[in-house]
Amino acid sequence: MKLAVLVILCSLSVYAHPSLKAAEICTADKCKIEDDCRCSSRINPINNADDPAPQLIAITVSESIVQTLYDNYLQPLFFDRTNPDGSPVGLTFYVPHEYTDYYLVQDLYLRGYEIGDHSITKTPNQTYWREATPDDLEQEFSGQKTIISTFANIPAEDIVGVRTPQLQIEGDTSINAYVTSGLGYDNSWPTYSTERILPYTLTYASNQKCSATIQCPKDSHPNFWVAPITNIKGANNTECNSLATCLVAGTADEIATWLYNEVDAVRNDNREPLTLRLDSYWFLFTENSYEGFVAFLDKIKSLDDVFLVSVQDILQWIKNPVSASQYKVPDHSGRTADCHKISCRLMNEDNQERYMMSCVPCPAVYPWKGNPLGEASK
Ligand SMILES: *[C@@H]1O[C@H](CO)[C@@H](O)[C@H](O)[C@H]1NC(C)=O
Ligand SMILES: *[C@@H]1O[C@H](CO)[C@@H](O)[C@H](O)[C@H]1NC(C)=O
Repeated sequence: MKLAVLVILCSLSVYAHPSLKAAEICTADKCKIEDDCRCSSRINPINNADDPAPQLIAITVSESIVQTLYDNYLQPLFFDRTNPDGSPVGLTFYVPHEYTDYYLVQDLYLRGYEIGDHSITKTPNQTYWREATPDDLEQEFSGQKTIISTFANIPAEDIVGVRTPQLQIEGDTSINAYVTSGLGYDNSWPTYSTERILPYTLTYASNQKCSATIQCPKDSHPNFWVAPITNIKGANNTECNSLATCLVAGTADEIATWLYNEVDAVRNDNREPLTLRLDSYWFLFTENSYEGFVAFLDKIKSLDDVFLVSVQDILQWIKNPVSASQYKVPDHSGRTADCHKISCRLMNEDNQERYMMSCVPCPAVYPWKGNPLGEASK
């Protein structure tokens, strides 16, 4: 009798925490796009040789938003660039906190770009991320969402995407932290160039492979989306997932041709939406990379079925898939937000000075993990 009560109590507690429920095998009859569910697979929902899917590409940036990045790269590369249908190109910024200028974050938001979350500390300490507790991760991601929405003064509900530093996913612990932080998709999980898996939900078990350095989620996370980062082939045909770490060297024309061919390989295969990770240090440390990247962007513009969009736009497409000829880039013009631009001189936890450009009055101290609003006496 006692045992039976115990068993009932245990099973009740299991069901009270959906994250403890191991994910079941995904089948198309259980997991339907109208229920905000999709199995992990290579199958493109548009399968028509005469009018194929659009080739969507999200260029993503996950570094601090500072004036030099804005002036030297973002403005000249993207602000006047358009897609084949005339719409402005999209980008996704996963914004970390330290040194970020929140006036510029609002500016990028108003230009229609997607603003996502990249943690507060973005610390390069791998042990920290590996040993992080659920509470640590929630403070990192929920805290950064609070910091962005407060100091850039943009709606929190528009911040739905997340990328974890160093792409170090710690299985269900990471996904649970994202969910409790009110985030809806992850764009951190690399996959081999041969896999080419389209975005999917973690409602059921994922088929996406996990490299040795990260942990795969095993539980069911209903309606939480994964936008995989599919590797491309870099120098000497090595698998890579950031333009900088692909280590391709050469003339601008050679760099442009390399990137174009990588995109074209996917375009001639299953047209899986691509994520390209752009780091500004690529331009500083690789000769001809800037000119090569411009030449690449110019070259793909001649393809009328290739669109540069945000990761959020990619998810919108897969939830409502249409062919290239029917595809319209979502319109993000008409966003509004107020900014009373103010430069805040603040002290951080180590008593070091940090300047923070804010759209709202300055906090008492530099916002940080555990104190995202930068309140006094914490
Ligand atoms: C890295 O993080 C771990 C765990 O939080 C900590 O114990 C260690 O001191 C950190 N290492 C450095 C170099 O900061
Ligand atoms: C590619 O291979 C060549 C020949 O083995 C080598 O010299 C070169 O350093 C390699 N490049 C990279 C970026 O690994």
